[in-house]
Amino acid sequence: MGNNILVTGGAGFIGSNFLRDRLASPSGDTFINLDTITYAGNLENLKEVSEKENYFFEKVNIEDETKVESVCKKYKINGIINFAAESHVDRSISDSKPFINTNVLGTLNLLEIARRLNIDNFLQVSTDEVYGSLGKTGAFAENSQIQPNSPYSASKASADHLVHSFGHTYGMNVKITRCSNNYGPYQFPEKLIPLMINNALEDKDLPVYGDGKNVRDWLYVSDHCDGIWEVFLNGNSGEVYNIGGDCEKQNIEIVELLLDMIGKPKSLIKYVKDRPGHDERYAIDNSKITSELNWKPKISFSDGIKMTLDWYLNNKSWSNNVRSGAYLEFYEKWYGGLAK
Ligand code: NAD
Ligand code: DAU
Repeated sequence: MGNNILVTGGAGFIGSNFLRDRLASPSGDTFINLDTITYAGNLENLKEVSEKENYFFEKVNIEDETKVESVCKKYKINGIINFAAESHVDRSISDSKPFINTNVLGTLNLLEIARRLNIDNFLQVSTDEVYGSLGKTGAFAENSQIQPNSPYSASKASADHLVHSFGHTYGMNVKITRCSNNYGPYQFPEKLIPLMINNALEDKDLPVYGDGKNVRDWLYVSDHCDGIWEVFLNGNSGEVYNIGGDCEKQNIEIVELLLDMIGKPKSLIKYVKDRPGHDERYAIDNSKITSELNWKPKISFSDGIKMTLDWYLNNKSWSNNVRSGAYLEFYEKWYGGLAK
């Protein structure tokens, strides 16, 4: 008998990559995508799997207790993977409330429903940002101190604490994954890599925060999705698993590489005011998941960045369609405020 898995936030960047990967080959599992479709959610991302007989979509907010519970009963859900979140650090600096509502209260709601209905496999998709910022050396391990610095990371850290507390208090089978920066197809073009690709293609300025020397540890999205699946199936209850690609890069390195790949001049780079509270460096120690669950990244950065650029080159209409309304309003206001 396969599982009936509730995938929340399945219409976003990582959730849709996860669903496409899982649904690519036949399996006994059924996937129910529960997503409220915010500015970052898009059912277009799932058009190639929407007709599969083991895929269903429910337009529901994770904060809506009655509706989430009834979806869980309808499909006899026995596992939850919670991708749903407000995910953009800059937005959390400009307006933090939606982050608390979805990331904290929404997660609490899912946990309560899982507890009531005895749904005994709950995976929380979390982030390395809960550990705060590193200096020039070291890497985050699962037992590193939780020291979130932005409203986004504070909301994700709060959710992680709630997940842990439900495992500890009620004996539920809960797991947490904490991944570094993802990149790949269908990433909303507010995040560094797709934003820079689109701006370069359109000969617009490439806004680099501060001195551009902040470091992120990059992982191709399908590798993250494989890690999540591995932890969901085989991870130990109550434990945290870091997921990362051992691929540290300064932001400016990435921006310059993309300009070279696209064939556009460095003069498009525009240094702007820094993001308030900007974390200096992230790096993940992935030794636990590699040794205990045999996971390792399959896609090198040089292959992943080529595949990503090709995808954005071949899907310009996707970017044009998602960059509308609320996105444009935020973009103008935010980058207007960062102009030097
Ligand atoms: P995203 O912003 O692209 O997608 C989020 C999805 O969640 C959207 O489909 C949106 O409609 C949905 N959603 C938001 N609020 C909701 C609500 N209240 N109810 C139901 N659905 C809701 O985000 P992403 O980059 O795909 O991130 C997915 C998860 O992975 C998040 O939990 C994020 O914190 C985590 N994460 C992201 C990264 C990264 O680099 N993007 C790295 C580590 C962890
Ligand atoms: O580390 C995991 C996290 O990675 C996830 O939890 C978040 O959901 C995800 O958004 C991402 O957070 P970051 O803040 O690291 O990602 P972002 O793409 O917004 O920024 C990456 C780096 O690039 C960061 O140092 C800020 C910088 N940047 C970003 C933008 C959008 C710029 O210099 N200019 C920009 O215009």
